[in-house]
Amino acid sequence: MCARKSPRIMVTGAAGQIGSELTLALRGRYGNENVVATGHKTKPSPKLRDSGPFEFIDVTRRESIEAVVDKFNVDTIYHLAAILSAVGEEKPHLAWDVNMNGLYNILEVARERQGVRVFCPSSIAAFGPETPRENTPQETVLRPKTMYGVTKVAGELLCDYYFHRYGLDVRGVRYPGILSSETPPGGGTTDYACEIFYEAIKHKRYTCFVREDTVLPMMYMPDCIRGAIELMEADLSQLKHHADFNLAAMSFSAGELAAEIKKHIPELICEYEPDFRQQIADSWPRSIDDSAAREEWGWKPQYGLEAMVTDMLENLRK
Ligand code: SER
Repeated sequence: MCARKSPRIMVTGAAGQIGSELTLALRGRYGNENVVATGHKTKPSPKLRDSGPFEFIDVTRRESIEAVVDKFNVDTIYHLAAILSAVGEEKPHLAWDVNMNGLYNILEVARERQGVRVFCPSSIAAFGPETPRENTPQETVLRPKTMYGVTKVAGELLCDYYFHRYGLDVRGVRYPGILSSETPPGGGTTDYACEIFYEAIKHKRYTCFVREDTVLPMMYMPDCIRGAIELMEADLSQLKHHADFNLAAMSFSAGELAAEIKKHIPELICEYEPDFRQQIADSWPRSIDDSAAREEWGWKPQYGLEAMVTDMLENLRK
């Protein structure tokens, strides 16, 4: 039997919250030299920079993507570079440019080279206030009210278009808010769920920018990464969906999260001062039905609230 050839991977947004950990996981799985990390402005951590190739690119300039794809003979792209929901409301034009033109460039580079596969995450931000908020179905109303959400819905449709029109193997999931201890998130609405950990450890006090009773779907980073890799390794013939899989792990309110952290840090004081992000949070689902992902590629989350909080605090204290 001959060994399966290792994929040659490029990760965009590799210095970001998901990218920084996904890149290391991919390097561990497929070999350091087979995974080129790329970033734009954010400086890579020493771990990321020293464990394998790193290149600067601007996804809004197609030639800068092409240069890296050709230099490293890339056959798989994890496209994570994006502007998130809160910054997207402050800078809608930038969000459109990076999220839409960036994705279009990635898809075009992949199409022209034939056989290049793409992973592109969507988000719970694809949903809107008219969407059923509990156990949100796979097939449902997609009328987001943020520019970020608009680019995510358009992105899902564009990815599916490339699959049906050109046979490009593009896959993606609608991630919930992601909790992580390695790299803080930047510019999202679900960022409070990470910030509270950092502040609980440092200052024992946190002022949360959404109301105490705000419930959103969330996921811990190990599940987030496993989800991406398992979807990309799934048998294409089993997939009925492509770039828009609902994905769930846990749901909790901001108050429930604070209470769970207080079990470990009883002195924590959490106050609530909702700002413009409250309205964004209120337009997103409270829980997600991910049965399509479970049926088509065997998705199953491992972390719930308790296990996630214990693990987050342990990692952050290190
Ligand atoms: N976590 C993202 C945000 O809050 C949603 O995908 O913008």
